[in-house]
Amino acid sequence: MAAVFKHFENSKAVPELDRYRDRILSFDSISDCDYSVTRNIEQAVSPLRLQQLKRRYGDIVFPLDLPDNDNRYIGDFLDGDHLETYVSNTFGFTARNSGYFWYPYRGYSGWHTNSDKAGDRVYLVWAQEDNKSFFRYQDPHSGEIITQWEKAGWQINHFHVPERGLLWHCIGSYTNRISIGFRTLRPEDLVDDDEEDYPGLHGLHTCFVGDRWNVLPNRDSFIDLVDLSEFLVGKEPIVVAHEEIAWKARHDPRTALDARYQKCDYGYPGILAEGVANPYHLKYRMVDGKHRLAKMTLETNIRRSPYYILSRDEFLAAMSMGKPG
Ligand SMILES: [Fe+2]
Repeated sequence: MAAVFKHFENSKAVPELDRYRDRILSFDSISDCDYSVTRNIEQAVSPLRLQQLKRRYGDIVFPLDLPDNDNRYIGDFLDGDHLETYVSNTFGFTARNSGYFWYPYRGYSGWHTNSDKAGDRVYLVWAQEDNKSFFRYQDPHSGEIITQWEKAGWQINHFHVPERGLLWHCIGSYTNRISIGFRTLRPEDLVDDDEEDYPGLHGLHTCFVGDRWNVLPNRDSFIDLVDLSEFLVGKEPIVVAHEEIAWKARHDPRTALDARYQKCDYGYPGILAEGVANPYHLKYRMVDGKHRLAKMTLETNIRRSPYYILSRDEFLAAMSMGKPG
């Protein structure tokens, strides 16, 4: 069983679900993310795109790990514990709310796997119209790509992120679509840890031509952050003024408001590269720490903080360790 979908006839089965929908649609506490009606949904959710991503990166854990791979509003965590209780009791796993999402017309979440957190995923999904929004996934056994079109009203999308192998999936919408997500509570959720803590480096720092963050002329490249740890050995963080840093949410720190923002701890230093091309022509280019800097900017008066600094040569060496762009 890779995935099960159920339409529920009567939203009254889950207390207050419609009230949540109305809150989300009225923008209550939803963050202003990077949604634009003109972005290319057809490309982001296409089978061809999946082939390209697999060939190039092997795995994409979060939609936001790539530019142009996420086009929706991402909300905070809900205050409704009873929804967690409902999902836990109904589906037989210990559920933790993973946020809520609003996909307006042409909203999408591009291909990804969530492979960092195996276990059950349940989404309570509301669509405004019949057959205008979908959950698409690749069956990990047959390789078949399956598109589950959704009904008007509430439904449940239930799937399982495997411990081994990848469940590639994506979402697209040509109507108003809301989802409230739940995943299996994991042992690490019980520890107050930080996903971005060094040396637990993960994810990609992308240098793509299309978004002006390229480093090589006319060529996409990236750094796999896990490759950076060897360059950090023996370095001490130094304090840098934030105004000297080019970073990918500098134009609007609110674009970094997502689940990782919630969890990050700005007590841990980020990583900068000195003397590497950036669209702001600043001394430092941020390699890791976007969520922490966004949190400092939005929630505190901290405008200087410690960073590990990579030289330009170290940055380029780490870049060449990734797969060829
Ligand atoms: Fe997902």
